[in-house]
Amino acid sequence: MTHGSFRVPSPVNEPVRDYAPGSAERASLRAELERQASEVVEIPLLIGGEEVRTGNTIDVVCPHDHGHVLARAHLAGPEETARAIEASIAARAEWADVPWEERAAVFLRCAELLAGPWRDRVNASTMLGQSKTCHQAEIDAACELIDFWRFNAFYAEELYAEQPESGPGMWNRLEHRPLDGFVFAITPFNFTSIAANLPTAPALVGNTAVWKPSDTALLSNWVTMQMMREAGLPDGVVNFVAGDGPTIGATAIADPRLAGIHFTGSTATFRTIWRQVAENIDRYGQYPRIVGETGGKDFVFAHPSADVPSLAVALVRGAFEYQGQKCSAASRAYVPRSLWGELSELLVEMTRELRMGDPADFTNFLGAVIDARAFAKHRDALAAAQADPAVEVLVGGGCDDSVGYFVEPTILVASDPSYDTMRRELFGPILTVWVYDDAQLDEAVAQCANGSEYALTGAIFARDRLVIRKLTHDLRFAAGNFYVNDKPTGAVVGQQPFGGSRASGTNDKAGSMLNLQRWVSARTIKETF
Ligand code: NAD
Ligand code: ALA
Repeated sequence: MTHGSFRVPSPVNEPVRDYAPGSAERASLRAELERQASEVVEIPLLIGGEEVRTGNTIDVVCPHDHGHVLARAHLAGPEETARAIEASIAARAEWADVPWEERAAVFLRCAELLAGPWRDRVNASTMLGQSKTCHQAEIDAACELIDFWRFNAFYAEELYAEQPESGPGMWNRLEHRPLDGFVFAITPFNFTSIAANLPTAPALVGNTAVWKPSDTALLSNWVTMQMMREAGLPDGVVNFVAGDGPTIGATAIADPRLAGIHFTGSTATFRTIWRQVAENIDRYGQYPRIVGETGGKDFVFAHPSADVPSLAVALVRGAFEYQGQKCSAASRAYVPRSLWGELSELLVEMTRELRMGDPADFTNFLGAVIDARAFAKHRDALAAAQADPAVEVLVGGGCDDSVGYFVEPTILVASDPSYDTMRRELFGPILTVWVYDDAQLDEAVAQCANGSEYALTGAIFARDRLVIRKLTHDLRFAAGNFYVNDKPTGAVVGQQPFGGSRASGTNDKAGSMLNLQRWVSARTIKETF
């Protein structure tokens, strides 16, 4: 393979703003938060560029103040889903033939709008609708999404430049065609950036999409959709259809023109989708590409040579930032007994200092978990742990949903490494620790390697170089994103391509050329002269 010369602007990661007290940045974001908090937005569907109001609506509420209605969203049923598929197929005819540079220009324009005039709108809607702190919104909804768009444009050029060898009297070419149908993008609540990336990465390489956003991220997702329209995204390229997942899914997945599924969400939902694809396999005009980034039970493994203060910081930040609702969040830890005394004191001290409350007040570290269902899951897990003599609640353990869905940052210490919360993804601010005897290091590594069905992120802490080498090898199938002496969260587009294997997904690394490759179907052309 040879590579051509590059013309896309060299991508750089968007700098993270700090919104310091007294800064103009903070004043501007605060004003936008106040504006959005004072209105109830009507969120329609967007089908072929037309705003559709079905009248079947849900209230979009603020997780940290669930009496506060932020928006009313119209929901699609089978009929609107079918219309969105038709709109997507209709738009595809022209969009697929648009030169790739012009498609890339739309998304580079999106990136610049988000870096500038739309930043506050997108960040504020993510803070209010998904209960993110200013910093968590900034690194997700602003920086990561800007990075997705800038880097994907760059990777697209790399992809198109990939060409086979030719010889005298003959020219071989690869034509990177889009898929032959529509892409169904199904998105989670926890990252605005992922939600917007899932329909737009396939669209960048000529596909059109039906985007099914999460019910609990509709405010930010709709704001993002509007920004794409302002950037010049043609009608029908991305069709926004909110609604019940199984209902929209059943219609979209049964359509013979389904060419791909770009999913991020839970493992259970992804398995349902695979089963539905299998049931419909004889209908399709092609084998749909299925890309899914799914659940995690992400680990931190500490060796006796680990630096305890940095381990403590990694555990607290990795487990509790965004209330532990990152797919990458640290939720199980393996710690040697020789370090536990010092580490447990630090963990208690640091966790007790974390402030929880309205994330829009710029001082709290944690907001609320996303909804009543998530709250109930955590309340039940905490009650079970408190009733179990084999589990110690080291710190936290409380929860309160009287105003918002608040769950205290909690550390459990389990005497059994296969205790429920060492294996099951809870997706909230609960970290479970297993303290192992230093002499049983190998067993602890084996527990970590195979202690859960997932393999998304993981981190090891050690100072000994040979130990780092051995752990990196022994845990090589336990995580798709592996960190040495760092927390397991915070992958940056263009630096740490993100994705996991086993029950954590198809590992098609979001924000990389590996991902874009899934959305093209190459034709090889040989011409003889
Ligand atoms: P979820 O599975 O509940 O929902 C995801 C999306 O699927 C939503 O839009 C939902 O409405 C839709 N859906 C549900 N049933 C469906 C069906 N039958 N057909 C079609 N669509 C359907 O997940 P969530 O709670 O929004 O997100 C949290 C999960 O996502 C966690 O498990 C987390 O680990 C995972 N996640 C993974 C990554 C990653 O990169 N691996 C990133 C973010 C989130
Ligand atoms: N970029 C996100 C993280 O790594 C998914 O936490």
